Amino acid sequence: MSFQTFIEPFKIKSVEPIYMSTAEQRKQYMKEAFYNPFLLHSRHVIIDLLTDSGTSAMSSEQWAGIMRGDESYAGAQSWERLETELKDLTGFSYVIPTHQGRAAERILYGYLGGKGKTFISNTHFDTTRANIEFSGAEAIDIPCKEAEDHESDYPFKGNMDIAALDELLGKHGSTNIGAVILTVTNNTGGGQPVSMENAKAVAEVCKKHKVLFIIDCCRIAENAYFIRNKEKGYEHKSYREIAQEMFALADGCAMSAKKDALVNMGGFLALQNEELATACTNLLIITEGFATYGGLSGRDMEAIAIGLREVFEDDYLHYRIMSTTYLGEQLKAKGVPVLYPIGGHAVYVDAGKLYNHIPAEQYPGQALVCELYQLGGIRTVEIGSVMFGKYDEDGKLVAAPMELVRLAIPRRVYTKSHLDYVIEVFDKIVQNKAATKGVKIVKEPKFLRHFTAHFEML
Ligand code: F0G
Repeated sequence: MSFQTFIEPFKIKSVEPIYMSTAEQRKQYMKEAFYNPFLLHSRHVIIDLLTDSGTSAMSSEQWAGIMRGDESYAGAQSWERLETELKDLTGFSYVIPTHQGRAAERILYGYLGGKGKTFISNTHFDTTRANIEFSGAEAIDIPCKEAEDHESDYPFKGNMDIAALDELLGKHGSTNIGAVILTVTNNTGGGQPVSMENAKAVAEVCKKHKVLFIIDCCRIAENAYFIRNKEKGYEHKSYREIAQEMFALADGCAMSAKKDALVNMGGFLALQNEELATACTNLLIITEGFATYGGLSGRDMEAIAIGLREVFEDDYLHYRIMSTTYLGEQLKAKGVPVLYPIGGHAVYVDAGKLYNHIPAEQYPGQALVCELYQLGGIRTVEIGSVMFGKYDEDGKLVAAPMELVRLAIPRRVYTKSHLDYVIEVFDKIVQNKAATKGVKIVKEPKFLRHFTAHFEML
C-alpha cells in the first residue's frame, strides 16, 4: 500500500499513563524477566506492540453501551442486539457467542475434528492448529506461492493456493475433511490480505468437493480495506459490503472479537447449517455458558455490536491501515528488512536478515526483541525459531523457516508520535547491529515454549 497522509480520526477523552524508564533500568527488568518479554511487568513497557488482540481502545459509544448492558441470564436485550448485528453482518442464520476466538475454535473444530480428519487453511493460526491437533486431526497450510517472495509487492500474499486445495480435497475425499479455513487477513503469514477473487475460488472448490468452508474473520474489516484499495471492481463498495460479500461465500465463520470488533474480550461462531449450529450450541452450554450469552457479559455483547459498526467506518480504516503502513515504510526506508508489502495489523521485521551474523541456534529474533526493549522500552514478540523451532532426535535445533519479530499495533491506542518514537529507536537498532549478540535458552517447557522460556544473553 503506498503511503498516504493520515491523522487519528478521534480525540482523546481518557488517558492512561505510560511510565518512562531508563535504558539502565530496562536492562535490569529484562534480566529479571529472563530475557522473555512475556515475563515483563506491563508498567515497565513504554510502547507495547506484543499483540493487537484485546488491546484496543473503546469508543465513548462503546463505553455507553457497557452501561446499557443487560445482564439477564437468558434472552438479554444485549444478546438480541448482538445477534441482530451479527446476522446482518455475516448473513448466517445461527450465532454462538464465546469468550474469545479459541473457545469458538475448540467448539467447532473439536466437533468437526478427531482422528482421521484433515483441515486445510491458507495458514492456521497457532490456537487454530492447536485445537485441531488436540482433537486428533491434522492441519495443513497451503499459502499461495507468491507469499514465498518477501520483497515483491504482490498485493494479496494471504491467498490460498487453489490448485493445491483442489488436489488435497480430491485426495482426501469429502468425508475426511473437517473444514477448509480461510484466515483473513493471514496473521501467521505476515498479516497479509486475501483477495475476493481468491475467496471466491476457495468457495467454488469447496462446493465442488462438498466440504465445509469457514472464514476466520477476526481481521475481516482490515482485509476489506485492501480489497477496496487494491482489487479491481471494489473501488465503489463500502468496506462492510465487501465483508458481507465475502461472508456470503462461506458456510460459517469463527471470530476473535478481540481484534476487529474493537473490544478487550469476546468472540463468536456464526453458522448456516442448523444441525451443526445445534451441536455447537450444546457444546457451548457445557463449558462457555447458556446460548444467549456464551462466555460473555451483557455489557461485552453491547461493546462488540457497536465495535463491529465502528470498525468498518472509512476514516477509521484509513487511519488504521495507514498507520501500520507508515511504520513499515519508514523502517524499510532505513534499511530495516521487513515483510513486504506491509500487512494490516503488524509490521514483521526479518531479524534473520537484519542480524545475518547471528545463527538460528542463537535466535536472532529474540535478540532483536531484547534490543528493542532495552534500547526503547518497546515490547514485541519473536515469531521464529523460539516460537516454531523443534529439536531433532539428536537434540539439534530444526530452525523455523524465518526469524521474524512482529510489531503488532493495538487499535486506536497509539498516536503517530508514538510510532515516530518506535522508528527512532530503530536508528539505534541499526547502529548497534554489528555488536548485537544472540541468546541461548536455559529453561523451556515442552509446549508453546515462547510464553515461559528463560534465556541468557551470549
Ligand atoms: N485466529 C487468528 C487469526 C488469531 O490471530 C487469533 C489470535 C485467534 C484466532 C485466537 O483468538 O486470542 O481470541 O483466542 N491472535 C492473537 C495474536 C493472540 O496475538 O495474534 P483468541
